[in-house]
Amino acid sequence: MEAATRRHFFHHGQDSNEDEKDQCHWCQLRSFPTHKTAPITVVNDVDTQTLPQNFRFINEVVLGAGVSAADLSFRSGCACVHHDDCQYAGCLCLSDLDQEEADEDVSDDQDVFNSTIRAPAAPQKAYAYHMHGTKAGILRSKLVTSKLPLYECHQGCSCSPSCPNRVVERGRTVPLQIFRTPDRGWGVRTQESIKKGQFVDRYLGEIITSAEADRRRDASVVSRRKDVYLFALDKFTDPESLDARLSGPPLEVDGEFMSGPTRFINHSCDPNMRIFARVGDHADKHIHDLALFAIKDIQKGEELTFDYVDGASEDFGEPEDSIEDMTRCLCGSSKCRRFLW
Ligand SMILES: C[S@@+](CC[C@H](N)C(=O)[O-])C[C@H]1O[C@@H](n2cnc3c(N)ncnc32)[C@H](O)[C@@H]1O
Ligand SMILES: [Zn+2]
Ligand SMILES: [Zn+2]
Ligand SMILES: [Zn+2]
Ligand SMILES: [Zn+2]
Ligand SMILES: [Zn+2]
Repeated sequence: MEAATRRHFFHHGQDSNEDEKDQCHWCQLRSFPTHKTAPITVVNDVDTQTLPQNFRFINEVVLGAGVSAADLSFRSGCACVHHDDCQYAGCLCLSDLDQEEADEDVSDDQDVFNSTIRAPAAPQKAYAYHMHGTKAGILRSKLVTSKLPLYECHQGCSCSPSCPNRVVERGRTVPLQIFRTPDRGWGVRTQESIKKGQFVDRYLGEIITSAEADRRRDASVVSRRKDVYLFALDKFTDPESLDARLSGPPLEVDGEFMSGPTRFINHSCDPNMRIFARVGDHADKHIHDLALFAIKDIQKGEELTFDYVDGASEDFGEPEDSIEDMTRCLCGSSKCRRFLW
C-alpha cells in the first residue's frame, strides 16, 4: 500500500491530524456530500504512480483573483408556485431561451402524462429535460445533439429543491472510479450504467481571468499541454453585449491543480459525453457551469471520455508544430484525428 494511503486508513479516522487530513486525497473525496450515495474511488492496477501531490479535490469551483459572482441586488429567480410550472416558457428561469427553442416539437419526449392531457392551447414545454417516468431528468434528445445552453432553476427560485429543472444543481449521482490506464495516465470509468442524456458531473476548477489563463499558458513549457486543463466560459460571450462581463474575453476554468474527478477524464475523438453550458442565476452567465452529459448509453465499467475541442478539428495541432512535438491521440476510435495537440 502506498504511504499516503496507509496514513489515511490508519490515522485519519481520528480527530487529530487535521492539517494532514486537509492534504489527503481520500479525506477530500470522503468530505463530498455525495460520498455515501455516489463515491469516487481511485485504483491503480498498472504501476506504482499515485495521484499528483500538487492536486486537490474540490466540490465547488474556486473564484480566482478578480473574479466574482453577481451582486445580490442583480440576482433573481423564478416565482413559480409549483415546480410543474418550471418547464414552460412562463418560468423566469427559461425566459432567455430563443422562441424557436421554446416552440420546438416535443414529440420525442415520450412524456405520456403531458402528451395525453395537454389541451391544444396549452403552453409548450421549454425546458431541457424529460419530466416523468424512467427518463425523468434525462436531456431531451434534441438537446443531446445541440450546443444550446441549459437554463436551470436554482437557490434563488421559489420552487422546491426537488424541481425537475435542477438536475445539475442536485449534483452527480453516478459513482465514478479514477483508474490507471496502460497508456494515457489516469482515466475515469463509471461504476454504474449511464443513459444517453444523463448528467454525469461538472468540470470544476479555479475560475480565472483570461489574462491569468494566458499567463499560465505562457508559463507552461508547451502551452497546448496546459490548454487541456483550461476551458473558456465563452457560451454567452458577445462583443456587442452591454454587460462588460460578457463583452470582453471570457473567464476560463483551470482544473489542473484543483478539480473534481472529471479532471482525470481522457479525450476521445468519438466520445461518450459532451460538455454543456449550464446557467442557474442569469446574472452569473459569465461564470456558467460546464456540465458533462452522456451522449450515448454507457455500460457499467466503461471509460468516460469527451472531445476536448468538441469536434473542432482545426483547434488540434497540425499547423504550427512539427510532427515530433505533437502528442499522438490514443483514443483508439475509428474516427481518431490522430493528434491531441
Ligand atoms: C485532462 S488530462 C486527463 C487525465 C490524465 N490522463 C492524467 O493522468 O492526469 C489530459 C492528459 O491526458 C492524456 N490524454 C488524454 N486523452 C488522451 C488521448 N486520447 N490520447 C493520449 N493521451 C491522452 C494526455 O497526457 C493529456 O495531456
Ligand atoms: Zn485521509
Ligand atoms: Zn423550478
Ligand atoms: Zn420556475
Ligand atoms: Zn426557477
Ligand atoms: Zn483520437
